[in-house]
Amino acid sequence: MCPMKYFLLLGVFVAPIFFKAHAATWRATFTPSAITVEMHKEQEIKLDLAGLDDGSVTEVVLKTADTIVADVQKVIPASEISGGTWSGYFNVSGVFLGKTDLYAEITTVNNQKEQSEERLSVTVIREQRVIDKVFTYTVAVLVAILYVNFGAALDLKLLKTIVTCPVGPAIGVFGQFVVMPLLSFGLGKVIFPDSHAMQLGMFFTGVSPAGGASNVWTAVLNGNINLSVLMTTISTIAAFGLMPMWIFTLGKVIFDQGELTVPYSRIGEFALCLVGPLIIGLLIQRYLPRVTRILVLVLKPVSALLILFIVIFAIVTNLYLFELFSWRIIVAGLGLPWLGFLLGWILAKVFRQVNADALAIAVETGIQNTGISIFLLRFTLPQPEADLTTVAPVSVAIMTPVPLFVLYVIIKLKERLNRGKRELLEEKGETADLSIDSQETLPQDQETAKNRTEVP
Ligand SMILES: *[C@@H]1O[C@H](CO)[C@@H](O)[C@H](O)[C@H]1NC(C)=O
Repeated sequence: MCPMKYFLLLGVFVAPIFFKAHAATWRATFTPSAITVEMHKEQEIKLDLAGLDDGSVTEVVLKTADTIVADVQKVIPASEISGGTWSGYFNVSGVFLGKTDLYAEITTVNNQKEQSEERLSVTVIREQRVIDKVFTYTVAVLVAILYVNFGAALDLKLLKTIVTCPVGPAIGVFGQFVVMPLLSFGLGKVIFPDSHAMQLGMFFTGVSPAGGASNVWTAVLNGNINLSVLMTTISTIAAFGLMPMWIFTLGKVIFDQGELTVPYSRIGEFALCLVGPLIIGLLIQRYLPRVTRILVLVLKPVSALLILFIVIFAIVTNLYLFELFSWRIIVAGLGLPWLGFLLGWILAKVFRQVNADALAIAVETGIQNTGISIFLLRFTLPQPEADLTTVAPVSVAIMTPVPLFVLYVIIKLKERLNRGKRELLEEKGETADLSIDSQETLPQDQETAKNRTEVP
């Protein structure tokens, strides 16, 4: 442990003894003491100042600790202060999503500044629009449909193969539920040391199960599709237990540091929200074979639609997301899936998996079900955290396909190059054959032609 901590702690206890002579002789009372204001809106606050020294105070200025979040323009000149007191109103305006403190600062004749001990806690949220509710509910409905589909498509026989050959799936689950949560936690801490909201967004994305898109990409990139489907299945089921487990343990560290309360019951409800549709899907599979066939058929389009819908809708309706986009968020969005692919691949190679299996494991590890993370964040967190954290999975969703697409293009180019070479060789062979043919046949033809002309 760093010993500086104890010096700082000592300072906290010792400092007031020295400052007591100055501080706390005046008071600022804010009514109410905590407010929530919408972005671009103002709210009126009552302020009572008392115990000021009329002779020495030249002015009182109200300030916010973070002017990016909230702004206040209020200066109380000495002339307005009488008998050491001042009472009146001022406006706070919400600038951008987040939380900050507001305080009064006095300036004395010898130009010394002193801040009030009392603070007004300001939370800035977005205007509650109908479209935001529509967004959250639509994501919830799409995720529910996905889980019904998933239950219907669940191949229980395939699950039994885990018993016979568990190495590949075991690596997949390890990558998905040990490597990715730790990676997302570490990346969040390193890239956003000061933002607990972003750390949460990253972590919630890291603990979510593999996305349905992983099966599509594995197929496109010539990986082992059966292994991919099996791993998605296992991770989607394991998510019911492992997501809450991670959030209540390592996630709690972020909640505690950010002085946020862990939404235990909401996360429990969330897990139930997924179990319900899954059971419905299983029942459909058992009793309605025709419906099952349709559901299995639309499973991939639905999961593709979910990702597409979330990314497009999130961007179109929440342009604030772009204000939040910074190089850090882009690096985080790239880092999580890319490092996931890489670590998944390395892990698979360490355990001597063949290329097709290693590819399936890498894709499975790197691709997260961002729909589930967004649903989880919006469903469980209060504002402004729900808004502030959503940007992490959205960024991950946008960045994930980039390396896969590059890999796809490389594979296609290689194939084309190889085919091109082959075609070139074949062409040469054919023309050679042709020339031989023509050389052999030509004399005969000429002879027959001659014979024909000679006949008449
Ligand atoms: C605060 O703003 C409102 C309008 O947004 C205005 O009516 C009110 O007078 C302002 N109050 C102060 C103290 O400036």
